[in-house]
Amino acid sequence: MSMAAIEFKDVKKSFVKGDGTVQHVLDGVNFSIPSGKTTVIAGGSGQGKSVTLKLILRLMDVDSGQIIIDGDDITRVRGKKLESLRTRFGVLFQGAALFDSLSVFENIALPLRERTSKSEQEISQLVSESLAQFELTGHEGKYPAQLSGGMQKRVGLARAMQLHPSIMLFDEPTTGLDPVMTREIYHLFARTQALFGFTSIIVSHDIPKVFNLADQVIILDRGRMDIFARPEEIQWSEKEHIKDFVKTAMGEIYQSRLVEK
Ligand SMILES: Nc1ncnc2c1ncn2[C@@H]1O[C@H](COP(=O)(O)OP(=O)(O)O)[C@@H](O)[C@H]1O
Ligand SMILES: [Mg+2]
Repeated sequence: MSMAAIEFKDVKKSFVKGDGTVQHVLDGVNFSIPSGKTTVIAGGSGQGKSVTLKLILRLMDVDSGQIIIDGDDITRVRGKKLESLRTRFGVLFQGAALFDSLSVFENIALPLRERTSKSEQEISQLVSESLAQFELTGHEGKYPAQLSGGMQKRVGLARAMQLHPSIMLFDEPTTGLDPVMTREIYHLFARTQALFGFTSIIVSHDIPKVFNLADQVIILDRGRMDIFARPEEIQWSEKEHIKDFVKTAMGEIYQSRLVEK
């Protein structure tokens, strides 16, 4: 396995629930995210997938443990150092989080305006290139409400790429898309990753579609993580909760596809 972009070391995170009981969302987890590859994090609703991403971005603090990003423990840094660590990330969350009052052009240009001192001409050039790359040419004057769900995701991805993140985090990025569009978006992610070479972490319930992209799969269940170097290993697991996962989430389609290979 190649160099680690992110390493979780004995990370614990729990919440006190309304009834006073403690929910151990991450109960001392260890894993590493290989650089330049795609890791898929799967698991049932409420198992801590989004919390895991928030901890990586330090939008939330761990209870204990370390999260090493390119050699720095993001759980310990602050101020300028934290800001500079965060600039390595691009995110695409459930809604594409576009600004409704900004055109496609202005949405994509936003990070360049906020984070760089590029001239209007340079910005225009870069945005034009992105529009072409993400098949949005001709739509730059439109507003998010005028776009299809798939186009909104493409604009979100184009915007996330402007500052060349070394790590991309996708949280349920195909929510609201039909199966055909979902497949197209995953192909686009793969092409974009091949082009830019970023490390990719995709949280998704689109199983098995997303597993085709995975170099590694992590299944989160009741505070524990099971790590599979290859998606097809999941079905051979002897663990009961993984067997249940295979039955309910992956189903027959996945198994027959593997047999056919
Ligand atoms: N800020 C918070 N305060 C209290 N509980 C939280 C908070 N964020 C998440 N949780 C709880 O942690 C669990 C995991 O949440 P989350 O990571 O969002 O799940 P999912 O795997 O569906 O993304 C959930 O049960 C949720 O209720
Ligand atoms: Mg979530």
